[in-house]
Amino acid sequence: MCGIFAYTGKKKNSAKLVIEGLKRLEYRGYDSWGIAYKSGKDIHIHKEVGKIGEFKIEGSKFDPSNIAIGETQDTQVAIGHSRWATHGGVNEKNAHPHFTEDKDIVLVHNGILENYKELKTYLQKRGHKFISKTDTEVIAHLIEEHAQNHNFEEAARLAMQEMEGRYAIVVINKQNNQIVAARKGSPLIIGVGEKEFYIASDIPAFLPYTNKVIYLDDYQIANINEGKIKFYDTQKREEVEKRIIEIDWDEESAEKGEFPHFMIKEIMEQKDSLSRAINQDPSIIEKVAKEIRSAGSIYLTGCGTAGKVAMVAQYLFGEVSKLQSHFYFGSEFLSQAGFLNKKSIVIAISQSGETADTMEALEMAKEKGAKIVSIVNVENSSMARISDFVIPIKAGPEKAVASTKATSSQLAILTLLAYAMDGGIIIGKQLLINTTSQINDMVNPRYEDHIMKIAKKIKDIESMYIIGRGKNYPIALESAIKLQEVSYIHAEGFAGGELKHGPIALISQGTPVIALVSNDQHKKDILSNSIEIKSRGGFIIGIAPENDEAFDFWIRVPDTGETSPIVNIIPVQILAYQLAVLRKNNPDMPRNLAKSVTVK
Ligand code: G6P
Repeated sequence: MCGIFAYTGKKKNSAKLVIEGLKRLEYRGYDSWGIAYKSGKDIHIHKEVGKIGEFKIEGSKFDPSNIAIGETQDTQVAIGHSRWATHGGVNEKNAHPHFTEDKDIVLVHNGILENYKELKTYLQKRGHKFISKTDTEVIAHLIEEHAQNHNFEEAARLAMQEMEGRYAIVVINKQNNQIVAARKGSPLIIGVGEKEFYIASDIPAFLPYTNKVIYLDDYQIANINEGKIKFYDTQKREEVEKRIIEIDWDEESAEKGEFPHFMIKEIMEQKDSLSRAINQDPSIIEKVAKEIRSAGSIYLTGCGTAGKVAMVAQYLFGEVSKLQSHFYFGSEFLSQAGFLNKKSIVIAISQSGETADTMEALEMAKEKGAKIVSIVNVENSSMARISDFVIPIKAGPEKAVASTKATSSQLAILTLLAYAMDGGIIIGKQLLINTTSQINDMVNPRYEDHIMKIAKKIKDIESMYIIGRGKNYPIALESAIKLQEVSYIHAEGFAGGELKHGPIALISQGTPVIALVSNDQHKKDILSNSIEIKSRGGFIIGIAPENDEAFDFWIRVPDTGETSPIVNIIPVQILAYQLAVLRKNNPDMPRNLAKSVTVK
């Protein structure tokens, strides 16, 4: 949800470097972009509508290398932003960076300033003039207001004290070469080089240059000036020391390689990503299993795809571990506040570890004294850092907006947890090893070709439905999300048994319906539901270990028992991808969506 990238140091042509960094963050927002850089005493700003990924310096009217900032300045300073619009439409004016009238203060922002209306009214009365409709511009003016009586860093600090909401900001000013970065609720990470610093919403932006990172925490401000960095905690009202962490993700795994899109690359990687998830040190899983077992109440939370995974966990905990748990989406968690106490345990599932709604649920749970477990891909994310226990899923960087490999790895970890709570982590691991080896039959071109036959047949339909029962019911919901996200086809998931209570009225001649079948106690019933649909003209695409007379088209999946959610979602991921490509959509950057949703 908006990508921030900034640089200060001795590397020549920081503007170009920032543009390259923003390209690596495009998955966070891609409706418009902009940069600001210092050249002599001036700050130059350039903004464009459209995808930063498609911007080429060669042949463009805007060429930062012509401005020769390298020659006019020793210390380079540049900030940049790729936008996912919240306040104000998509146009150049609303794109970041935003600035005060004579560009004294220039900044980029990720998040939402909740009290921007009140602040804007106050600032307008004080004579400030605004040119955009964004909440961000208000922050620039607020800092300028304080800068009348304070130095730049102090002005930013005072502004932060008045700002409500979740945000990450990076600010520069005309008077000197300082960069001030501040965070509350939205991620901001500092890459540390030789007397140079990178500031970004996510690590891949600066990974080609350094793997030494500092995570800025909420209410903290970083002030970078002439090769030195200092941190200030606005709550403790004092300077703080921060630790440099070396991270080990190599950039290679964040590249597309021979694949046309990240989405298909990540789908095809699932055998390896699953192996990494299940072959990690089991002690943390066993420890967490013990904590959950002894908790007074168990809650699961997450958003989007991660929310559907949390729903599967509810079934797994019930069936495998014989434990009752409660699932609520992050955005719906607030209404549970009254039930949380010191004996509760809250388990959050998230790829990014930054999703604002899930984060807010965890913050509330922490306040109530509940224990927090997070199952995340980004190991040093905000969720990981406020949790009592963290189980990493080890999926490696996931760049496509639609989650695929992170989903299967989350499902694997939750399966292990469910078995560990039943005292049988070894049984769970064996089951998952068996599942992983059978996934080989699915992540290959022959399997893709088979699914392509059905993709071609249904590519122009308007609506489709997915049905499942038991733990494949949440997978039906997840299948619908996958299809909606990238194919833009109207897709809905239902519990098989609920069909006859309404949705069956939607079925007409040729309506495609995917039935998720596995060899479990629900098999007979889900096949009867398929027959009911078929007899009303529906076209049944069966995802199942065996073919059945109910199916008009059969996609074979291995028979893996309890792990059927993992194998059943993979063909739907492939189908969604193929439909996106056939319908000429960009599967990696679907319209209106962002990978990391750091606003509420
Ligand atoms: C966004 C993404 C989804 C993702 C959801 C939760 O909506 O587009 O793919 O499932 O956020 O993200 P998280 O990082 O918490 O798993």
